[in-house]
Amino acid sequence: MGSSVEQNILVTGGAGFIGTHTVVQLLKEGFKVSIIDNLDNSVIEAVDRVRELVGPDLSNKLEFNLGDLRNKGDIEKLFSKQRKYLSNSVQLSKKGRGDASAVYGSTERSEKELGWKAKYGVDEMCRDQWNWANNNPWGYQKKL
Ligand SMILES: NC(=O)c1ccc[n+]([C@@H]2O[C@H](COP(=O)([O-])OP(=O)(O)OC[C@H]3O[C@@H](n4cnc5c(N)ncnc54)[C@H](O)[C@@H]3O)[C@@H](O)[C@H]2O)c1
Repeated sequence: MGSSVEQNILVTGGAGFIGTHTVVQLLKEGFKVSIIDNLDNSVIEAVDRVRELVGPDLSNKLEFNLGDLRNKGDIEKLFSKQRKYLSNSVQLSKKGRGDASAVYGSTERSEKELGWKAKYGVDEMCRDQWNWANNNPWGYQKKL
């Protein structure tokens, strides 16, 4: 890896057959790994076995989260731990059915890792979108 920043990988179903094998490999490759698994078709001992296989040093880079991917609360709990990278939470409008529960955006990490810095912020983005929509009420279609 080119980056000196440790990369985090989330493995869903990481206590399962494919998951545990993947996690062992990722830890050996130097990644930090978070697992989310509801243990519906696996046992926590499988994760213990992963720790045994990779040893104590790499085990420190493994985090297990008991949770169900279909459960919004479990997902929010998991990502709230990672919020150091997702520092700006923006409430765009009143939520509608099917909308994402929250939207996070931060360019801090891309600046650190890629040397890329955003030139404009949310204010400019909203202003430009508003102007464009006002000037193009039919979007990309021609006026009928
Ligand atoms: N010894 C063997 O050869 C062996 C053993 C097991 C599986 N297999 C094969 O491997 C394949 C399946 O492996 P796999 O790793 O995809 O399946 P898996 O069932 O082993 O792993 C899936 C994991 O996802 C978890 N999970 C399921 N739904 C979830 C949810 N909603 N939220 C969170 N976690 C959830 C389960 O608890 C499980 O740990 C099959 O083809 C199977 O026949 C082979």
